[in-house]
Amino acid sequence: MNNSEFDEHAVKAFCNGMLPASVYRKMYEVAKSAPVPVIVEVGTAHAAGTVSLALGLRDSGRAGKVYTFEKIFGGSREAFGGVDENVAIIKRNISHFGVSDMVELVVGDVSETAGAVPGDTELGLLCIDADGAIDRDFALFFDRLAEGAPLVVDDIRDTARVKAMGFKGLGLAVAIDQKHRLGYRLLSVFKRHGLVDEGELCGSDTWFGCKGQGKFADIPAVEVLEVYRSLTFSDAMVSGVPLRARLAAMARRTLPEATIRRLRRIESGEK
Ligand SMILES: C[S@@+](CC[C@H](N)C(=O)[O-])C[C@H]1O[C@@H](n2cnc3c(N)ncnc32)[C@H](O)[C@@H]1O
Repeated sequence: MNNSEFDEHAVKAFCNGMLPASVYRKMYEVAKSAPVPVIVEVGTAHAAGTVSLALGLRDSGRAGKVYTFEKIFGGSREAFGGVDENVAIIKRNISHFGVSDMVELVVGDVSETAGAVPGDTELGLLCIDADGAIDRDFALFFDRLAEGAPLVVDDIRDTARVKAMGFKGLGLAVAIDQKHRLGYRLLSVFKRHGLVDEGELCGSDTWFGCKGQGKFADIPAVEVLEVYRSLTFSDAMVSGVPLRARLAAMARRTLPEATIRRLRRIESGEK
């Protein structure tokens, strides 16, 4: 496969990729130009990013390696079964695109498994798409990146997400997700200290940038702590179909028809 044959849509579809196809295209491109052919990815899911990175390395004509970390338990992967089922899916996807020999899948929480990358290995690219705690991943890998190496960090947006999950008795159950806000604010600290350049977003919230001159070890721990503290209170919009559908059903049962018509007119912008 050469550059023109890389098909980001096929990779996304086959690997059940969670990011826009344009992001996989860009991951492929930056992997091709990585200064050292060793890549670390945190957050494999079903390997759409892994495959894009590995194909980029391969198409740069170098024998390279992608270490990819996936905890599987306690998150979105549980919908696909346990560890064995998920590992089987990941291995099938990697094999389908012919890059099994270039990928080392490391199962478990990256904070406990990072040692799978030998300590003296210089890295050519760091790709993070896990749980927003990017300070952990920077602490583990950033200082080993080669000069000017590219970085990809997903979930970078200064918003909290609150999703209505449905009613429980008289209460409304919600899921609160501050992953994007955490990533955005931590990355801002890292930019301020020159760890990374300004970079740019691809799609709505995947950041691509390059390593700067700063060192992770020089970041004052209190500045990272301040980011976590800043999440105590957040504004957010409640989203989610269950809430709207339930409220609409409740309104239909309890409100007079004339009031419902009036509400519909207000919602559609009529006076
Ligand atoms: C949004 S998904 C990754 C999507 C994937 N990059 C893609 O392109 O489809 C995030 C993944 O990170 C994994 N994850 C979250 N925290 C982790 C951790 N501490 N160590 C390893 N994997 C983690 C989750 O299990 C989940 O599969």
